Amino acid sequence: MSKALKESPPLAETLVAWQKVHGRHHLPWQNTQDPYRVWLSEIMLQQTQVSTVLGYYEKFLQHFPTVAELAHASQDEVMGLWSGLGYYSRARNLHQCAKDVVTRFGGKFPSTASDLMTLPGIGRSTAAAVASFCFSERVAIMDGNVKRVLTRVWAYDADLSASKNEKALWEMAEQALPTRQLKTAMPRYSQALMDLGATLCLPRKPKCPACPLLHDCKAFALGEPEKFPVKTRKIKRSSEVLWLLLARNTKGEVWLEKRPSKGIWASLYSLPLFESEDALKASCVALEVEVLPAFKHVLTHKDLHCHVVKVRLQKKPKTPIAGAWFSEKDWLVVGLPTPVRHLLSNSL
Ligand code: ADE
Ligand code: SF4
Repeated sequence: MSKALKESPPLAETLVAWQKVHGRHHLPWQNTQDPYRVWLSEIMLQQTQVSTVLGYYEKFLQHFPTVAELAHASQDEVMGLWSGLGYYSRARNLHQCAKDVVTRFGGKFPSTASDLMTLPGIGRSTAAAVASFCFSERVAIMDGNVKRVLTRVWAYDADLSASKNEKALWEMAEQALPTRQLKTAMPRYSQALMDLGATLCLPRKPKCPACPLLHDCKAFALGEPEKFPVKTRKIKRSSEVLWLLLARNTKGEVWLEKRPSKGIWASLYSLPLFESEDALKASCVALEVEVLPAFKHVLTHKDLHCHVVKVRLQKKPKTPIAGAWFSEKDWLVVGLPTPVRHLLSNSL
């Protein structure tokens, strides 16, 4: 082969050069090729911003320095460390994925995106992120930030809620990947797209004058970058009324139940939930009853309108789900939904 390798597509050359000088280089999951650490960061970053992830990430790695240690942990321990990060299916999949890496791959993460995708919780983009960062595989990432950058650069106005249009964008993204010096270019290119989406090509008011793609960007040329990406399908939001029983015994312990593996707050510990005030009151003989101010808690697809009844009990409540009395020491270390954690911290 000739010494002067053919250049990568211009977009890739520009992005790689930009990342080197202007990208982020000191996030704790960078400067490592350990797929366990990279995978953990990618799962945490899927729906959570960098500033929130930082603290959880370090704490998680201290408890579980290797994928084998995570695999052998109890579900309660994993959920407890995830508590507060939200989107708890990520934590359940994370744990299952660690177990599968141990049982199916001998404790070593597979090194290709197509094998990584066979693991729970790892979709096409996450697989590509791990494979490009750790193994320099020439594969395209396509998370929300990247979709925004690429649809703008190409003024791609097809509706991404139609899977054929999303698929076409993936194919365009594959065409745009670096073609030379992949060992260094691939990790840098993936990171460049993420960094550009997070720091300049923002959902609203993108910082186009500072952008390295300014002169190649069709959306900028059209004068309306914020119009991209085009996505018409709206998630149907529903709402639900919940009655929460905040019960304490004479020792000051709180009654918590472990939620089933499906539905609201799956696998977390929660105050008992009821559909109505009557159902709640039928579950126990209360000595002192106080109705706390109602509040709304917003989930991805649902608004929860929560009512809390605080009581003191001498006997266990009669609830459909098994539960137990928890002292403060005990409830501080289990996985609790955020509003329940707040209630226990602020309303006892
Ligand atoms: N979001 C998803 N992956 C990321 C990464 N590697 N660095 C920063 N933000 C990210
Ligand atoms: Fe995004 Fe503006 Fe850069 Fe285009 S020029 S990629 S819209 S920041």
